[in-house]
Amino acid sequence: MNESSWIRKMFEEGISLKEKYGHENVYDFSLGNPILDPPEEFFNSLKEISESKIKGIHGYMPNAGFKSTRSKISQKISNQSKSELNPDDILMTSGAAGALNVILHSIINEGEEVIIFKPFFPEYKFYVDNHGGKSLFCDFKEDFTPSIDNLKSLISSKTKALILNSPNNPTGVSYPEKILIDICQVVSEAEAKFNSDIFIISDEPYRYLEYEDSNQPFIFDLHKNGIIASSFSKDLSIAGERIGFVALGEKIKDKELIIDALNFSNRTLGFVNAPALGQRLVENSINALADINKYKTKRDYFYSELINFGYEIVMPTGGFYLFPKSPINDIEFTNLLKKEKILVVPGTGFGAPGYFRISYSVDDSVIENSLDGFKKVIKSFKT
Ligand SMILES: Cc1ncc(COP(=O)(O)O)c(C=O)c1O
Repeated sequence: MNESSWIRKMFEEGISLKEKYGHENVYDFSLGNPILDPPEEFFNSLKEISESKIKGIHGYMPNAGFKSTRSKISQKISNQSKSELNPDDILMTSGAAGALNVILHSIINEGEEVIIFKPFFPEYKFYVDNHGGKSLFCDFKEDFTPSIDNLKSLISSKTKALILNSPNNPTGVSYPEKILIDICQVVSEAEAKFNSDIFIISDEPYRYLEYEDSNQPFIFDLHKNGIIASSFSKDLSIAGERIGFVALGEKIKDKELIIDALNFSNRTLGFVNAPALGQRLVENSINALADINKYKTKRDYFYSELINFGYEIVMPTGGFYLFPKSPINDIEFTNLLKKEKILVVPGTGFGAPGYFRISYSVDDSVIENSLDGFKKVIKSFKT
């Protein structure tokens, strides 16, 4: 439990600071909770469903979810990717977190290894533990893309899967296509060498929170054993509704067996099926997006202010995070910011000591009012 979560720790410290100094006097950038309103389509659908008396609408369904919802998602992915997916390639889940657990439960045998790219969403290692796997961590370069050399040295006959996350939490950086191709090449070479199958799990709840038109390729267009774990938590701004999905590429190895295993895992991990209401809501909002330009405006403003103060930051292209360099030990630095009533999360929690994470999914006033504190702390290192 001690190492369980720096994010929670900062969030909880924030609660006591807010009680002491007042809510408006504490600048809390610790949680990645979407702040935007869901789009109009979502509310229209909610109203329509609440008035509907269709029999059985709130009952159980097949473990994979409603076929109509899966069909909408498979069509959307087929339109945007080079693959032709059908509804059976989709499994509805309880968020991307549910999707990751269902996938890992389905593919991992005790002791098999999963390579996680640093900096990483801290829950990954607990998810891998949940299903008897062993996590290995791949180093990153200055621009937060993975070290391909380090990946080559980690991959082995024991590797069952890789988890990659782009746009990334905590850095906000998206992996360029070239990096994805390089990763897939290393995996293909390892598969040939060890006569094995290695799954590349692309965790991508921030795919549509992209501010630079990157058109990130779909992982199964680059590698046959690509699997997507995703959700509507961030792009529709409905994280609390717990709705996500798994998507399999056309040519994945042992596809029927994997589909059966995913259904079985969704059931036996206790999810049974993804929330019925959530499935209807996302089906009716399939091409909608929360007003993500608001995140872009926050990013541009906050980034340029912090750079002017002297912070070193790789410009994030997506998500709602900044990941500045810390001039000293990141835990000590975040403690100095805390004295200014600014709450951020040390990079140590993401496997990246020497940095810290700012979640800018907050009101503009929180950003504006925090700036003096950010300036004061960094200036003390610049004289
Ligand atoms: C990288 C990443 N993966 C997965 C999740 C979990 O998303 P969901 O709420 O859809 O389960 C999050 C949530 O913050 C995340 O940042």
